[in-house]
Amino acid sequence: MKTIERIAELRAACETARHGGQTVGLVPTMGYFHEGHRSLMRAARAADGLVVVTIFVNPLQFGAHEDLDGYPRDLAGDTAAAEAEGVDALFTPSQAEMYPEPTRTTVHVDGLTADLCGAARPTHFDGVTTVVAKLFSIVGPCTAYFGRKDAQQLAVVRRMAADLNLPVDIAACPLVREPDGLAMSSRNAYLSAEERRAATVLSSALRTAADAVGAGERDRVAITRLIEATVATEPLVALEYGEVCRGTDLAVVDPIDGEMLIAVAAQVGRTRLIDNVTITIAGAEVTTDLGVTTQESEL
Ligand code: PAF
Repeated sequence: MKTIERIAELRAACETARHGGQTVGLVPTMGYFHEGHRSLMRAARAADGLVVVTIFVNPLQFGAHEDLDGYPRDLAGDTAAAEAEGVDALFTPSQAEMYPEPTRTTVHVDGLTADLCGAARPTHFDGVTTVVAKLFSIVGPCTAYFGRKDAQQLAVVRRMAADLNLPVDIAACPLVREPDGLAMSSRNAYLSAEERRAATVLSSALRTAADAVGAGERDRVAITRLIEATVATEPLVALEYGEVCRGTDLAVVDPIDGEMLIAVAAQVGRTRLIDNVTITIAGAEVTTDLGVTTQESEL
């Protein structure tokens, strides 16, 4: 595996691979890898000739009082993990390489970024789409792998790629859970032991909501109330939102029908966590996608 710090070098490596007939798989990350990141690398490794993983803690997507400075970092551990997953190129640019000057150009996806996480983090998605657009421009035609845990990010990036005719296929990969149901996140590292235990109420609430839909509930507000009531049983967890919307464009649909996203965000101590479940309703038939659960042995 080659570690690359310069944009020109990564661009050249991707162009050379494509000229040689290889496809390119891109896994954009902010590092501090867990099983969720590694599952994206494995998906890319299984499908593409050149696998590129990027690690860049993008300041543009953090609000003024958010965790940019404290965001967990472990370049040595990440390098070993990427190598073990058969990654070909690890791109680790500096701030100066990515933003030699304060950017005057940002990418904004209207509408999809206003609600859910966008309500509490109004500048977050512009930061994400701006850096992802830069990475797509650097890497060129490729398949880019994103996890379903960041469901709103996935919808926003998909829409950006479609609206701007970017030569990138977006591949959505399953959300990965700890054995007790907690969605994997680099930010789980912030949780104290007690907060870590309490945080499992989020996946329990999603499961309860999905079960209600499975039992015939179609009323959006009734489902959000169920989430609120479940999370309220855990005093260490403050629910920011529990919402039900259409998975593709995040539109509110009531009564719910088709492919729906049930999404939550909550504050657990100083840590903000998100989680979701996708449910597909076709008449009386309901399929639930909570993602995949990692076995202890794989951790
Ligand atoms: O999901 C993330 O880790 C980040 O939002 C991303 C897509 C790498 C952009 O910085």
